[in-house]
Amino acid sequence: MSRWVAVARVDEVPPGEGREVVAEDRIVALFNVDGTFYALDGVCPHQGGPLGQGQLCGTVVTCPWHGWQFDVRTGQHQINPTIVHITLPVKVEGDQVLVDIESDA
Ligand code: FES
Repeated sequence: MSRWVAVARVDEVPPGEGREVVAEDRIVALFNVDGTFYALDGVCPHQGGPLGQGQLCGTVVTCPWHGWQFDVRTGQHQINPTIVHITLPVKVEGDQVLVDIESDA
């Protein structure tokens, strides 16, 4: 099942940055890595921190609460190989960035 929701304009998330966005009732962390957009579930699996407000360095975001780091392309935790956070498909249509908020349902 899929449900694509527009979450931002392309120019609202410049390369090298991320944003916390809300897609219907879901918090999403949206990132722009050199012009390619990626999305993670916005709620950190550690203690619920806001991943979309974390610092993006290359393809890795650092949670602002306690510093857990994830590859935004895969959701892979950077230290613990058993932790893989939820990724969400992203596409661009015109000037809009859309995220499939039900791809993991
Ligand atoms: S809530 Fe994200 S590292 Fe603790």
